Amino acid sequence: MPYTAIVGLQWGDEGKGKVIDYLAKDYDAVVRFQGGANAGHTVYVNGKKFSFHILPSGLLREEVVGIIGPGVVVDPESFKSEAESLRSQIGDLEGRLFVDPRAHLVMPYHKMEDELFESHSEKPIGTTKKGIGPANRDKYARLGIRLGDILRPSYLREHINRAYDFNRRIVESYGKNFPEKDQILDFLMEFAEYVRPFVADTVLLLEDLEKSGARILLEGAQGTYLDVNFGTYPFVTSSHTISGGAAISGIAPWKIRRVVGVFKAYTTRVGEGPFPTEERSEIGERLKEEGSEFGTTTGRARRCGWLDIPLIRYASIINGVTDLFMTKVDVLEKIGIYRAAVEYEVFEERTGFPPAYSEDWYHIKPVYKDYRSWEDMINEIEKTLEIDVRFVSTGREREEVIERKGG
Ligand code: IMP
Repeated sequence: MPYTAIVGLQWGDEGKGKVIDYLAKDYDAVVRFQGGANAGHTVYVNGKKFSFHILPSGLLREEVVGIIGPGVVVDPESFKSEAESLRSQIGDLEGRLFVDPRAHLVMPYHKMEDELFESHSEKPIGTTKKGIGPANRDKYARLGIRLGDILRPSYLREHINRAYDFNRRIVESYGKNFPEKDQILDFLMEFAEYVRPFVADTVLLLEDLEKSGARILLEGAQGTYLDVNFGTYPFVTSSHTISGGAAISGIAPWKIRRVVGVFKAYTTRVGEGPFPTEERSEIGERLKEEGSEFGTTTGRARRCGWLDIPLIRYASIINGVTDLFMTKVDVLEKIGIYRAAVEYEVFEERTGFPPAYSEDWYHIKPVYKDYRSWEDMINEIEKTLEIDVRFVSTGREREEVIERKGG
């Protein structure tokens, strides 16, 4: 079967960029299926750092085709600046990078609204302010502008008013100026010229790739607990980050036969929301420093804490994980403490799974266990999840991966 999905089992930042780059050596194409420029995937090759937000990380492998599926929201500015920067480093992307015309655009006013909602909210989410929430809101409210629309200017002019009027009312209600329609149209027309060579019906592209026997990676962004259904709602992102989300690229679910679940040897979270094993102490600070836990997209410091086995166990069920990939064990080695939550106490009852009720997340008391080494931690994980940890990442470079049990 051609498809392998790669998903995060925590709150994102599990090191999926490195994992995708590493696994891409055995694949022909990589598909981003959700999210947008809120993602931050970092890859180090020969000491050089590459940061991806909207483009698929697998593009660093020369022979790999990168696809942005219809479920992604595309920010024109990020797309252009990232494609330009990558082109200057690895060469022309035409014929290697494709984006589906059904992908929605993140409009400049979506970013304004994200900023306004956050700064005026009593309980901000701590978003990346990349306009992800408002862009997806408009998609589902049927007010979105799709990439294909800007390649059909007369259609766009006919349809933009509903979106324009609705969003203008929102922005103006905060006392802010809204851009003129012509300004927005000019911006879109300029991007249309840039993006035109990359636009293709990715359903047919994938069908051709499948027929030619290609192996295809599905690159998940963020993590299971940022999923809009299964995450710590409302402190989540506005897309489906789980393996099931990959199917909205027009890929039949039964074709996805392998799901690699990626998790860090400890836990981090950026933004607001519950985090049961958070370590608000000197040790948490050390995890942050040793692990360079600062966001790729926003530079914000990540909150740090211990590995949470109930969390990744539940995530492995939701995603149907077949192989586990554990990252950043070198960071734990530097700290020298191998600790994990093995159960929770919630309202004085023991449980091995996170709650389905938002409120209960705030009442979790983790039950911790200490181990002599990360190998011992892996034994516990494999026993509990009944899934093999096939890969362990021991450093940031491409080569620093241990393949276990046949990999
Ligand atoms: P949004 O996706 O920008 O709307 O942000 C919603 C939440 O998801 C915030 O807590 C963000 O910090 C978090 N988030 C979004 N993208 C990422 C990511 O790539 N890694 C980690 N957290 C993310």
